[in-house]
Amino acid sequence: MVRKRKKKFSTKKFLRFFIPLIIILTIFLYKDDIYTLYVYKTTSYSDDTINVIKDNNLDINILNKKYSQTLENIINTEYFDVKHVDDYLEINYLDRDNFSSNISKLLSLNYTPKEINIIYDKLSDESIDIIINNDYLSDLIDIINLSYFKEDLLERYIEYILKNDYEIETAIIYVNIGLDKEYYTNVSEISDQDDILVLVNKYHKLSENYVPDDLKTISAKYQWAGRSNTLRKEASDAFEKMCEAATKDDIYIYAGSGYRSYATQLYLYNNYVLQDGFDAAETYSARASYSEHQTGLAMDIANKNGFISESDKEYKWLIDNSYKYGFILRYPKGKENITGYMYEEWHYRYVGIDVAKEVYESGLTYDEYVAKK
Ligand code: DAL
Ligand code: ZN
Repeated sequence: MVRKRKKKFSTKKFLRFFIPLIIILTIFLYKDDIYTLYVYKTTSYSDDTINVIKDNNLDINILNKKYSQTLENIINTEYFDVKHVDDYLEINYLDRDNFSSNISKLLSLNYTPKEINIIYDKLSDESIDIIINNDYLSDLIDIINLSYFKEDLLERYIEYILKNDYEIETAIIYVNIGLDKEYYTNVSEISDQDDILVLVNKYHKLSENYVPDDLKTISAKYQWAGRSNTLRKEASDAFEKMCEAATKDDIYIYAGSGYRSYATQLYLYNNYVLQDGFDAAETYSARASYSEHQTGLAMDIANKNGFISESDKEYKWLIDNSYKYGFILRYPKGKENITGYMYEEWHYRYVGIDVAKEVYESGLTYDEYVAKK
């Protein structure tokens, strides 16, 4: 008969089974602590940072995420705010003045980490100070990203936007022109007075003694009432070409008033003030040094009866064709607040064919066109 073998207790066997069980059980019971220890050991953050995380009972997974120099730097400063921990992780660290205090201010103004990264990417510390000293501006990033955003005008942009109700693009263009300041204030001297694209307006002046050195008298057949108007050579030639082209369409246009010296402009302006009063004169006559006529690139165009007006067929022809010869209507209707002058149906400015076409197609005044560059 087969005798049942009595099971013999084997310590060895027991241990082989029991020890792993204990280990598994211990790991299971202390898994959180073990994980914590693991994180402390493997993180790149300093002990100080680890302690702050511990002391504030923050999620230790923070230490496990991609290392953030921003967090490391701010965490041991007075600017650290527990509620922004996740934000710090998303802000790219930069070695910039007052970085920790500035990002904490930007965060408390409600700028998002993404916005803060753009702000820091694009702006100087001086500009960041300006932003911090204002309320949250929801359009700030759109403004910064405009191709014609000029950082040195940031403070003026903000002030202008807060005071006016314009679309952002309009407001920025207007400040670029200078329209946030009164006419004839904040004036700059034009640096390249011979540039065909020179912008002359109530914020940009020519010097008193500027005289173009390539003035050319326009052919007598295109002079109005026997005058002897001149323009700079390139503009003069283009004007004659335009007059000639017009005749082919049975349109007869003439040079009414082209280049005018500083002295002539001074005389005209003073006379207009005497005749119509200061306020009226300001709307249609440029002060000396501020007239496009002094550049030798502007022409007041006439038909046989005098300066062109909207109802003349020559007006329509010029509107449709002048850009093909490099000329643009400089003071259009409805744009008086931008150009600073009343509608002048007769005043054309030579800018060359390429730019004239762009200005014509854009529907902008020349002031706006330049402000968008
Ligand atoms: N009439 C224009 C604005 C000028 O005086 O130059
Ligand atoms: Zn004019």
